[in-house]
Amino acid sequence: MAPVFAPYPATRLRRVRRTPQLRALVRESHLTPGDLIWPIFVRDGKSERDPIPSMPGVSRLSVDLVVEAAREAASLGIPAICLFPYTDPSLKTEGCEEAWSADNLSNTATRAIKDAVPDIVVMTDVALDPYNANGHDGIVRDGVIVNDESVEALVKMALAQADAGADILGPSDMMDGRIGAMRAALESAGHTETAILSYAAKYASGFYGPFRDAVGASGALKGDKKTYQMDPANTDEALRQVARDLSEGADMVMVKPGMPYLDICRRVSETFQAPTFAYQVSGEYAMLRGASDQGWLNGDHVMMESLMCFKRAGCDGILTYFAPQAARLMNG
Ligand code: PBG
Repeated sequence: MAPVFAPYPATRLRRVRRTPQLRALVRESHLTPGDLIWPIFVRDGKSERDPIPSMPGVSRLSVDLVVEAAREAASLGIPAICLFPYTDPSLKTEGCEEAWSADNLSNTATRAIKDAVPDIVVMTDVALDPYNANGHDGIVRDGVIVNDESVEALVKMALAQADAGADILGPSDMMDGRIGAMRAALESAGHTETAILSYAAKYASGFYGPFRDAVGASGALKGDKKTYQMDPANTDEALRQVARDLSEGADMVMVKPGMPYLDICRRVSETFQAPTFAYQVSGEYAMLRGASDQGWLNGDHVMMESLMCFKRAGCDGILTYFAPQAARLMNG
């Protein structure tokens, strides 16, 4: 703790809070549209937009509208979007084969975006849940989420996404050994520039509920994800997860969810000084948006405050469904 140099009244901490200009001079953390990654839900069809009831203001978009969203992101100064497909239930299987189909929704959207808006960074999700008849992120055998077989499937999925032109792969599956396996496969396939943002410290959270509605996984999920996602009670384990993923070749790491895990953001950013991201997840969005739609909170105020807290905790950037709204506000 830094000492206070002079006792009151020589020190009056309010002196530098007196005007907006003085406050700007002493501000410690800064948030810009360049800090944001915008998660977008993709569906099939054309000119289709289905609102997601548990995420007011967020819709699943058909590929043509996702391309429009990518243009909007670029014009707002948001560097990256992250794609999450809503897969038709008829394409979900126990083997999850659709996950590495070259023409699945995620890969189709990636190609369309890179074609139309080449500069926008496209991030994709590497996990089997949208394609899995069981709703789990890995392959299920006799009720067990099997690690190594899941990693083999995830590697095929990662290669298909890299082939489609994804700039950043986001393994959100929490299997052991997936980062090293993906990195090795990407290198041998010549995808040496494809980056990995590892969901390194991802907790088994209740805050993912609205997301599971959005990707259509809520009904399918059998049981919970506690054998692979982290126990919310743990913090040292998050550091081991991050150390392991960096040692296997992750370029960037993520803490998820965000607001309930700011202590983890701080520890990870301070300990590793590697590019660190927080995911302000669907339930956090729903809470803030729901309360502000009721008139119980000021929406813009709490949105900006909630995003700034990640910068204060040492994060380099934030995945947030508020990205376009926050960027518009920052751009005036
Ligand atoms: C699944 C995945 C989840 C999220 C991103 N990827 C949900 C889960 O683990 O069940 C959650 C994102 C959010 O809640 O906004 N691989």
